[in-house]
This record gives sequence, C-alpha cells and structure tokens, in this order.
Amino acid sequence: MTTIIDGKQLAQQIRAEIATAVKTLTEAGQIPPGLAVVIVGDNKASRVYVNSKKKACEETGIYSREIALGAQTTQAELLETIRQLNQDPQIHGILVQLPLPSHLNEFEALQSVVPHKDVDGFNAVNVGYLSLGVDTFVPCTPLGVMEMLKRYNIAIEGKNALVIGRSNIVGKPMAALLTKASATVTVAHSRTRELPALIGNADILVAGIGKPEFVKGEWVKPGSVVIDVGINSVDDPSAPRGYRLVGDVEYKSAAERAAYITPVPGGVGPMTIAMLLANTLKARQIPVSTAGHVALTAEGHKSHLKLA
Ligand code: GUN
Repeated sequence: MTTIIDGKQLAQQIRAEIATAVKTLTEAGQIPPGLAVVIVGDNKASRVYVNSKKKACEETGIYSREIALGAQTTQAELLETIRQLNQDPQIHGILVQLPLPSHLNEFEALQSVVPHKDVDGFNAVNVGYLSLGVDTFVPCTPLGVMEMLKRYNIAIEGKNALVIGRSNIVGKPMAALLTKASATVTVAHSRTRELPALIGNADILVAGIGKPEFVKGEWVKPGSVVIDVGINSVDDPSAPRGYRLVGDVEYKSAAERAAYITPVPGGVGPMTIAMLLANTLKARQIPVSTAGHVALTAEGHKSHLKLA
C-alpha cells in the first residue's frame, strides 16, 4: 500500500497552529509577527507566489507588507529598501523574491538582509549555522520536506537518502538537514553518472531538478519514500488552461513502487509557504536586545540558538 503524503492538508494544519500562536501574542497586547516581501519587476510567476504569501499571512494574522519596486530599480535603491526593513520594528522577517532582474546583484541583496530577519535562510551566517548543526533559519522548501517526514513518522536515521539537485535553495540545505537527521546522504546533479542505480538504492529520494517527470518510476526503490520538489508546467491541450503541473518524478509509475510519495500539486508546494509563516513566527520570537535590534553577537540572539 502506498501512502500519498497530503501536503495541502498538513500545511493547513500547520497554518492553524501558527494562527493560534499569533492570536496568543496579539491577545496579550503584543505586536504580531511582520513579514516584508520585496518584489522587483514584473515576473509573472513571482507575482503569483507573492500574492499567495500575502494571503497566507492574512489568514494567520501575520502582518505583511509588500514592497513592489519597478523593473529599473538600481542596486543602491534595493539595498536601501532592505536597510530600512532591517531596522523596522514592525518587520521581523524579510523575503526578497527571486529571481531578481538580471542587472541586480542577487548575492549582495540576499547577504544584506540581517541574519535574524532572514526567513528564507539565504544569508551566509544562517547557511553556516545550518552547516554547524545549529538551530537557525532554514530555507522553506527543505524545511517543509523535513516537517512532512516528521509528521508522517517516517524514520530517517541510518537510511540512504538521495537528493537530486544541488541548488542553494533546495539541494544543499536538504542534504544538510538529512545529514543532521543521521541519514547517509548522496547529492546527485546534472553531471552524476549512473543515476538510476543511485535512485534504486535510495530509501528516501528527494527530487529537485526542475525537469518534468525526469525520474522514471521503474528506477524507484520498492518501499521507498519519494519526495517530489519539482513544479513543472507542461503543455496539455486537453487541460482546462492548456497546461498542467507535473513534478520531477513520473508520478503514476513511481507511486506503484513507493511506500510514501508526494503528489504535484498538493505535496511539497503548500508546505513551503507554511514554513515561511513558521519562520516569520520564529523571527518574532527571537529575544530583542535593549538596543532595539538583535545583533548576532548579542546574548539575545545567542540564547535562542541551540545545538540540535
Ligand atoms: N523564488 C522561488 N522560490 C523562492 C524562495 O524560496 N524564496 C525566494 N525569496 N524567492 C523564491
């Protein structure tokens, strides 16, 4: 029997838990968590993502502020926007929606978000903490995958885990988290040889490659856990909108072999937004030093960090 991991239902449950925590804060007379989303230019997919993040905030009582900057925005203007948000007491989390227009320096922009407001977990300080095994802000998609495994009571310790894809947003943090959870982790990518054999040996497979139905069902290890991070749009004249969404895994044939599998849509996708809300709540809960901000070296910030 294959269990289909219902990310939509799980995300709803987590959102309800966050809404309760936010209500407790505000009913005690405290300010709600605040998330700023910076979007530059008019990327259509980014607009859809930003709208759903805003809606999710509204539903959970998190204060959200969108900063929409024009496509011609300069690097200096973008950095100044982030600098102001870094200092804004109403804002606990800052997300710079990617991709940025190509004339902007994405790396510099992401590194300019102060680490304690970095709800995307992209700042090098947080990447470093993750690599050291310290509790910190972790990118939302791999965090969502870990939460799924946890809530479905899927054991990780000692398992062979294969992560396909080595991006900074998914593959690398995913490998770090699975390693921390005591899996034996392999990271595969576009240059990897003999991928089907590696997949056939994986008790837990996380596919984040961005190629529609790239992983064939027949490669999947019987009884394994298949987590599909891909969201690919493919033309389908018979679909209502002329396209349909598929993952990186050939779902139907993989589902026949796997013990657990995530569907696309309705699997990892909804969990990503739920984790953004969770990270924003976590940012709100970091103790604030008397100087009105949390410096990484200050006791306030240190006290919330713990070796996992
Ligand atoms: N664009 C696509 N995915 C992401 C994400 O996780 N964070 C940000 N900031 N931008 C994205």
